[in-house]
Amino acid sequence: MPQIFRHSTNYLARATIFGAIFILLAALWVTAEITRSGWNTGQYIERQQPIQFSHKHHVGDDGIDCRYCHTTVETSASAGIPSTQICMNCHKQIWADSPYLEPVRASFKTGKPLEWIRVHDLPDFAYFNHSIHVAKGVGCSTCHGRIDQMPVVSQTQSLQMEWCLECHRAPEKFIRPKDQIFNMEWRERNSSKDEIAQGVDLKAKYHIQGANLLTSCSTCHR
Ligand code: HEC
Ligand code: HEC
Ligand code: HEC
Ligand code: HEC
Ligand code: HEC
Repeated sequence: MPQIFRHSTNYLARATIFGAIFILLAALWVTAEITRSGWNTGQYIERQQPIQFSHKHHVGDDGIDCRYCHTTVETSASAGIPSTQICMNCHKQIWADSPYLEPVRASFKTGKPLEWIRVHDLPDFAYFNHSIHVAKGVGCSTCHGRIDQMPVVSQTQSLQMEWCLECHRAPEKFIRPKDQIFNMEWRERNSSKDEIAQGVDLKAKYHIQGANLLTSCSTCHR
């Protein structure tokens, strides 16, 4: 019986299979990279706001406390974005004629709130709460970076599930004394024995629950 397929077709078939596997792996890799990239997570992207409000000026240069504007960060899930009234507490007098502040004055006159563009935004199926983190020794800069140096706020962490879990598995590496929560210069612990021991002490002092509870799905997906 004559051979229907020649030997060389075997090689061709093999090459096709390897080719397909290669393309599949490449596609998976590209998908994973896109998922991690800033384009997907929003990391390091600066959003143009309706007003050129600068944290670098207000926090870094003028030393205004976070809680003056983010009034509910210690008491509720959301940190809160300041009302026009809060801006006008100062800007009725300071830079009262600045053209940069025209939208603020207009909002104050009409009572129509300013429309700030959200920078950090978790999907609705993930539950997050500021007050518990602040009460248990997690500082603003751990999750938001050096806000005091940002003329325009951008997201410095991925906010992906893996990032939350990294801390929930071992919070002793990240927590700080409560009087340091708003300190933008607080340095993350290095891995020396002494510093980890301090973290372990704080964890006990603040009654932080064990990793099994903090990493359980229903803690964040309720
Ligand atoms: C004088 C008022 C004021 C002070 C003080 C202030 N902020 Fe803000 N903050 C704002 C305003 C207004 C916005 C919304 C516009 C923007 O994103 O820049 C904002 C936005 C933010 C955001 C991004 C919110 C989002 O949309 O995801 C973070 C994070 C933040 N502030 C953290 C801080 C921290 C940390 C401090 C203290 C170190 C602080 N802020 C102090 C007024 C203030
Ligand atoms: C506690 C007082 C205080 C509050 C509250 C405050 N500011 Fe300011 N703001 C200042 C001071 C002081 C300056 C001058 C800052 C500098 O150059 O260091 C300033 C400067 C500015 C400028 C720059 C003006 C220019 O002409 O260069 C803008 C814009 C501004 N603030 C917007 C806002 C907005 C929006 C809010 C409310 C979310 C706000 N500020 C709340 C004190 C305040
Ligand atoms: C454990 C991490 C973590 C810490 C600590 C933290 N934040 Fe946030 N912050 C987030 C996340 C996550 C979001 C987005 C929440 C969402 O989309 O529901 C956010 C959002 C915000 C916003 C936007 C408004 C809001 O509540 O959604 C502001 C303002 C803010 N944070 C300020 C602060 C300030 C000020 C501190 C320190 C007192 C702080 N954050 C500490 C993780 C953190
Ligand atoms: C740097 C550390 C750190 C990061 C990052 C962090 N957390 Fe937490 N989280 C904690 C600590 C500490 C507690 C307090 C645990 C306790 O009370 O025992 C906590 C508590 C919580 C709780 C409340 C648990 C309860 O028992 O009610 C929720 C919900 C939560 N975190 C969600 C998140 C989410 C979602 C993210 C990511 C967007 C996140 N956390 C990122 C440290 C962190
Ligand atoms: C500490 C908080 C936390 C815990 C615990 C947690 N998740 Fe998540 N999860 C998140 C956050 C935040 C996101 C959203 C991430 C994003 O924006 O991509 C998420 C996203 C997801 C998604 C959507 C796909 C993805 O990866 O973005 C799934 C599915 C999921 N979680 C399942 C689980 C399961 C199953 C568990 C338990 C084994 C669990 N999560 C535990 C915080 C948590």
